[in-house]
Amino acid sequence: MSDNKKFFSHNTLESNAGWLIVMTIFVVAIAGLVQIVPLFFQHSTTKPAEGVTPYSALRLAGRDVYQREGCLGCHSQHIRTLRSETERYGPYSVAGESVYDHPFMWGSKRTGPDLARVGQRYSDDWHRIHLRNPRDVVPESNMPGYPWLQNKPASNVGDISAHMTALRRLGVPYTDEQIANGPKELEGKTEEDALIAYLQGLGTNRRAVQAAKTSASN
Ligand code: HEC
Repeated sequence: MSDNKKFFSHNTLESNAGWLIVMTIFVVAIAGLVQIVPLFFQHSTTKPAEGVTPYSALRLAGRDVYQREGCLGCHSQHIRTLRSETERYGPYSVAGESVYDHPFMWGSKRTGPDLARVGQRYSDDWHRIHLRNPRDVVPESNMPGYPWLQNKPASNVGDISAHMTALRRLGVPYTDEQIANGPKELEGKTEEDALIAYLQGLGTNRRAVQAAKTSASN
């Protein structure tokens, strides 16, 4: 049984806890690095997907409202590569769609449906009624109402120019002009307007590109 005496044999590994721990960490670390490191250099994860543009000031304010109100606690924004998901929600999500999201809103809790491609699925008026009291349009809904959003100015979310400047530092290509005009874009708008603008844009940039490709290949 000379095999059993070999340092790297399974017998040595499985009968020595310290050695087993060291080798397990070694193998898992390699497996992790092989998966993670290439992502830092792959354009598909670091560059915006075709058609994806930075949020306008109004949509960015809406995104702040979305975060503040905890919509993420019930809604994911990430369509997985499963047939049941793509049939229901549309083309699956790709990393390049979230490059301007800091932090991203993928989430995993789905008390309500995924919202990654909800943009333009309903009218603005539908959203207005739904956000004030969801049961007025979906009688069986258990989503809470957010009626106060219609009474608060969009500027209530904070200094939008400062937010855009911070995002620019993280790589979102806002121009000086866009940043300077941010507050003007929010003038006369409510938090509800901003949130609806955000929702109506979700997934639409990319969907248009995909639709064009599908019709071209047919
Ligand atoms: C307690 C869980 C819960 C929270 C919190 C919640 N929702 Fe919902 N949402 C639901 C459920 C359940 C539905 C499905 C029934 C309906 O349409 O009302 C839904 C539906 C929706 C829809 C329609 C989606 C579709 O494809 O039909 C939108 C848009 C939406 N929610 C937006 C929001 C926004 C924006 C917020 C935060 C301001 C929010 N939700 C917070 C549970 C929630």
